[in-house]
Amino acid sequence: MNDLDDLVAIGRGDPEGMLGSIAGLGGQLQKGYDLGRSAAALPLGEGVTAVVICGMGGSGIGGDVIRALSAGRTGFPVVVVKGHELPEFCGRDTLVLAESFSGNTEETLAAYAEAVRRGCRVVAVSAGGRLAALAEADETPHLALPTDVGMPRAALGYLAGAPLGILEAAELIPPAEEDIDRTVALLDAASEELGPHRSTEANPAKALAAWVGDRVSVIWGSSGVAEVAAVRWKTQFNENAKRPAFHSVLPELDHNEIEGWREGAGAGFAVILLRHPGESGRMGRRIDATLEAIAPSGLDVRQVHARGRTPLEWLFSLIMTGDFATVYTAILHGIDPTPVPVLTGLKDRLRG
Ligand code: PA5
Repeated sequence: MNDLDDLVAIGRGDPEGMLGSIAGLGGQLQKGYDLGRSAAALPLGEGVTAVVICGMGGSGIGGDVIRALSAGRTGFPVVVVKGHELPEFCGRDTLVLAESFSGNTEETLAAYAEAVRRGCRVVAVSAGGRLAALAEADETPHLALPTDVGMPRAALGYLAGAPLGILEAAELIPPAEEDIDRTVALLDAASEELGPHRSTEANPAKALAAWVGDRVSVIWGSSGVAEVAAVRWKTQFNENAKRPAFHSVLPELDHNEIEGWREGAGAGFAVILLRHPGESGRMGRRIDATLEAIAPSGLDVRQVHARGRTPLEWLFSLIMTGDFATVYTAILHGIDPTPVPVLTGLKDRLRG
């Protein structure tokens, strides 16, 4: 086990600098948003009846962020597609954003090609790859993401900021500038508190990694921003710490999962419950009742609270805590957080 308070061990444990990318989340969000807002030749927003964001894994979560933030605030649905197929309804009045950090993801390329074929209003977003080349050939607007980070999941600020800026430029969402400014300031401050220089005693992300230890994490969030944050935590435990992890959403988990947490079933698991000030009183009462109902399982539960005043701040503050905690979990166990050999090996095999 590495010592999370030993900066030399941390440096050795994170040779490609994943911690530095996470600390830069606020700056990335700002840059991505500015790039999206100022992108050239974007399709018209007028008459758009649905927004569809296509992307997988570390790119797809950018779409989840937009979907959660637009819930109840747009007069049209925002749908995230994580696969090859576009929904049947997609046509001329659908704005399709195809996001792939590498630009080479099979599913996203297929969805992009289908969107172009159907005459949708399409914007491609990537840091290069085939998607950029196809967009150029098709004369589809392409937003080029910066390449200063190596991994899609380390580029979430770009992958969420760019579509926010694009939707604002198309006048499909209200201006977000003030909210972005506040969120960036909050993330910059949080990265000091959660970063490697703060000792475990004063660092909630390091403390969380130590608390999880060898157990399997189960991340719970209430539907909306905490749901997306829970997905991100789960996938970051998978990819950074190379461990199984699971996520569930309230209230749905009360209708199935709690039955599995019978007496004694909690051994070996650590539940991380993501909370935010936007939860209704009804949800708060449900969470209390849920924790009471599963108490006999012996599940160890820790609550992580979002910071800030807006859904954007809540979501990104939860994400940053999880990003740091999962990288610390990796370092603690001597795992390099950056490479994802199983995932890339599978992609290579499928490419033949
Ligand atoms: O985190 C990862 O590396 C993956 O989840 C990728 O994001 C996913 O495979 C899709 O690749 P890309 O983001 O390049 O489209």
